[in-house]
Amino acid sequence: MCGIIGHVGDGEAIEPLLTGLENLEYRGYDSAGVAVQNGTGIEIAKRSGTVDELVESLEGTHLGGSLGIGHTRWSTHGPPTDENAHPHTDSTADVAVVHNGIIENYGALKERLQEEGHEFTSDTDTEVVPHLIQYYVDRGYDGETAFRNAIEELAGSYAIAAMCDGDDRLYAARDGSPLVVGIDGDDYYLASDVPAFLEYTDDLIYIEDGDVVVLEPDGISITDADGAPVRRRRETVDWDAEETGKGEFDHYMLKEITEQPTSIAQTIEGRYDPRRGSVSFDACEPETFADIDRVVLAACGTSYHAALYGAIVLRRAGVDADAILANEFGVSAPPIDDRTLVVAVTQSGETADTLGALRAASRAGATTLAVTNVIGSSAAREADEQLFIRAGPEIGVAATKTFSSQAIVLTLLADRIATASTGSSSLPIDDICADVDRLPSLVETLLNGSAAESVARRYRGERAFFFIGRGLGYPVALEGALKFKEITYEHAEGFAAGELKHGPLALVTPETPVVAIFTGTEDEKTLKNAEEAATRGAPIVAVCPGGHDAVSLADAHLSIPDVHPMLSGLLATVQLQLVSYHAANLLDREIDKPRNLAKSVTVE
Ligand code: F6R
Repeated sequence: MCGIIGHVGDGEAIEPLLTGLENLEYRGYDSAGVAVQNGTGIEIAKRSGTVDELVESLEGTHLGGSLGIGHTRWSTHGPPTDENAHPHTDSTADVAVVHNGIIENYGALKERLQEEGHEFTSDTDTEVVPHLIQYYVDRGYDGETAFRNAIEELAGSYAIAAMCDGDDRLYAARDGSPLVVGIDGDDYYLASDVPAFLEYTDDLIYIEDGDVVVLEPDGISITDADGAPVRRRRETVDWDAEETGKGEFDHYMLKEITEQPTSIAQTIEGRYDPRRGSVSFDACEPETFADIDRVVLAACGTSYHAALYGAIVLRRAGVDADAILANEFGVSAPPIDDRTLVVAVTQSGETADTLGALRAASRAGATTLAVTNVIGSSAAREADEQLFIRAGPEIGVAATKTFSSQAIVLTLLADRIATASTGSSSLPIDDICADVDRLPSLVETLLNGSAAESVARRYRGERAFFFIGRGLGYPVALEGALKFKEITYEHAEGFAAGELKHGPLALVTPETPVVAIFTGTEDEKTLKNAEEAATRGAPIVAVCPGGHDAVSLADAHLSIPDVHPMLSGLLATVQLQLVSYHAANLLDREIDKPRNLAKSVTVE
């Protein structure tokens, strides 16, 4: 998983390349590099470390040229070293390539090219690509044909951009990894994701698997593997660059947590009627679900917690539903057939594990639905149906605002699926809709009065942190623990509240704060579970409305507004996001780029 950027146009390429890399850093941040063409050879600057470090290293140097490519890396093959950073070249640096994905047959290709005399300098799979292109150039093929021949030999998944010395065209192809072209008059941009070039243009074309793109100063051509032209829709996105910048915030994560009143308002707009208490979707017509017997939601990480949330709401609506980790789908999925709806829940729409589950579901004859934030993502394009969560761009690696938007979409969707497939829904949808309407202002209130920072300060340095919840509080507990561990690097676990006494209680001591989440369902039982922990000396942090019985038991209180129990978990999640953020900030962690992680995991 990596970010790639390219530029062809009138001006110097280096500025949009470095801007693009900064904007794409959430996709990987262990090494970065650029290559530009200036008519007198390809110039390359690359190194392990962040994009900022690359930019610093370039101060005082001039990389001139209007054609260029850049890359920000998250290591898969080979550690993050200067040699393994992209762009990669052939032995004579006549071809430069950046790549996102995995070349599965690189071992065999490398052996063959080595026998031909090619010398390799990195441990990466990518390096075979420039050598392969050069192999064909050496045999008299022009740049485009050499690129096409090379691509044809690759097995695996990729988005690739390449340029050849003395050739003013940029070549690109995708098969399994995202790629989008931005157009601004005679300037063309190529990137893994739209925020890379939003400062320059919002006019774009999503590239599809199998497409070969040639960008040159005179225009763009998109063809299939045989060279036949293909038509791809030109569209405009309504994200603006401001939205993808950090603004007044120190971290994207805090900005994105704070944006939730707006992102939630965007998510729900036009999708329910608070007066009539009904759900009205812009997609997913009721007939889509008429023949559905069961729903399986597949997802990873935070999206999996949203999927668990959705599965619980679906079951309460009267639908047979399960959430499954997408990476377990192949080995432990429940029976799937043409009466199953498989919902891929994925913020990025590019998570390889989730796409794998989506494809397996399609092969088994299921109806598929992508619940995603990214229009034009692989999940959106491959699923039969799409529901966009409309949270706006999320740059921080730790998912925040997309969780709340996913959970809301899935809650509203549950009612539609239940009504369409069983003839009725057991959800009190009018009450839910009335409170959905209040969510943006309730989140605003919560954000303004949150005690999360003082809670984070008070328990700083404790041995471990446990999160417990019941019903919809359970996925919220899992999500609270995931967020905490991924950005603080402290030990945190989430448990179903009732499970504590079946084993985890052995871990509970006065040095292990227990964060107990009360969502308004069987709270008295959760309170008993919290008491069991308090008896062992654990400090209790209660996440509940003011005036709740738990407040008097607890050592600290994170207040959530009173709201329908189907929605209170969302508000609790916002408090937990803030606690994690402040705890990580006190520890001076790299909050937006936690170690070893990347925003979009495009490898299995
Ligand atoms: C955690 C986080 C990850 C993602 C997971 C799935 O904060 O962001 O756990 O939720 O990698 O990503 P998407 O939703 O893009 O499929």
